[in-house]
Amino acid sequence: MKLGIEAISLYTPNKYLSLEKLAQARGVDPKKFITGIGQEKMAVPAPDEDVVTMGANAAYQAIQQVDDSSIDTVIFATESGIDQSKAASIYVHSLLGLSSSCRSFEVKQACCSSTAALYMAMSMVALKPEKRVLIIASDVARYGLETAGEPTQGGGAIAMVVSATPTIVSFDTEFGSYTEDVMDFWRPNYRDEAVVDGKYSIKIYLKALEESWKNYLKESNASFGEFDYFCYHLPFTRMAEKAHFHLGRIAESDLSREELAVQMEDSLHYNRIIGNCYTASLYIGLLSLLDTADKDLSGKRIGMFSYGSGAMASFFSATVCEGYKKALQPEQNQKMLAAREEISVEEYQKIYAHQLPVDGSEYKTAQHETGRYRLAGISDHKRIYEAVKATVPAEELVHA
Ligand code: COA
Repeated sequence: MKLGIEAISLYTPNKYLSLEKLAQARGVDPKKFITGIGQEKMAVPAPDEDVVTMGANAAYQAIQQVDDSSIDTVIFATESGIDQSKAASIYVHSLLGLSSSCRSFEVKQACCSSTAALYMAMSMVALKPEKRVLIIASDVARYGLETAGEPTQGGGAIAMVVSATPTIVSFDTEFGSYTEDVMDFWRPNYRDEAVVDGKYSIKIYLKALEESWKNYLKESNASFGEFDYFCYHLPFTRMAEKAHFHLGRIAESDLSREELAVQMEDSLHYNRIIGNCYTASLYIGLLSLLDTADKDLSGKRIGMFSYGSGAMASFFSATVCEGYKKALQPEQNQKMLAAREEISVEEYQKIYAHQLPVDGSEYKTAQHETGRYRLAGISDHKRIYEAVKATVPAEELVHA
């Protein structure tokens, strides 16, 4: 039985900040952000967006492509959760009008819980091959203003329908994992921003890649040379370049640096202009590869590396389905990215400073241009979501 992705959809906020402008405002050489870190723009979620609205916006598009009555589980992967108890998936389940017989829950392990959700979903579908599982990975990457992590922020969501009739990619059952208790990145309950030891997290990422790869080889008889492309977890695009050259060395590949770069450069395009999306990043990288590669990738094998600080990682593999292009919407994704509004560093800082009430008082969130769903406000400690028209006329927009 083949198990994999039948539909995949991307959502990212309508506002972005140019990293060149951020560098100028911070008195940093823009080449550091653009070449050294490898990022050009970062998405800035509006005050009426959160992981639920972004996830619902991505998921709405994904479920249009399948029979949604066959979805019997929604799994929401995030590390920017909006509640300690209630799963974000239940809000999305309700916004999308899914059947009440469909299970719905949230999973967590930093950026790699989406991969845990993927393998959980495939196990569920293996038990009931006529059913589908909707996975939503949605996050807002948020670090302190004027910190080293600031240029590696971003936000967005990916939704994937997993089934026994994949049309985009199927996944192999073998995977190699690695877990180590480290403090490279974490977010205590009382903080809105992550605490990160960036240089240490890069070291642990590379160590976890090496160990996951070794464990993968114990399970699989695949070799480095059998993979045509690679997708890595993308906190920033230079991280994937470092990782791929590192893996090439460990695997004793005889490919040149240029040849290695070709194996992953198409997976970087979307991240470079959206920024880090934590749980969604690896799968936005996969979509970027599938959407933007010039060649037909049917039948190609992709090595996938998922990393979650703290830390847990997995190396696994995918094969691109014949005719996969028919199941994708590259023009729609590129149109959404091209239509975004650039905001100034001042507007970004204003949005950054925006906070929802924490005392349960009534609050109506100003309306920005978002997708189909938005956070309307807070009432009696409850988040209130609403469906809106996909495009709000400019005169009706209110700035934070
Ligand atoms: N022109 C070109 N490149 C430049 C440059 C310039 N003027 N100035 C610096 N650089 C390069 C550096 O050489 C470095 O490249 P290298 O890693 O290949 O040596 C890169 O830009 C970053 O510079 P560095 O001084 O290391 O940046 P930093 O201390 O500001 O931190 C991160 C960078 C990524 C560690 C930081 O943004 C961070 O902590 N991000 C969040 C954590 C994260 O994403 N972790 C990853 C694992 S999940």
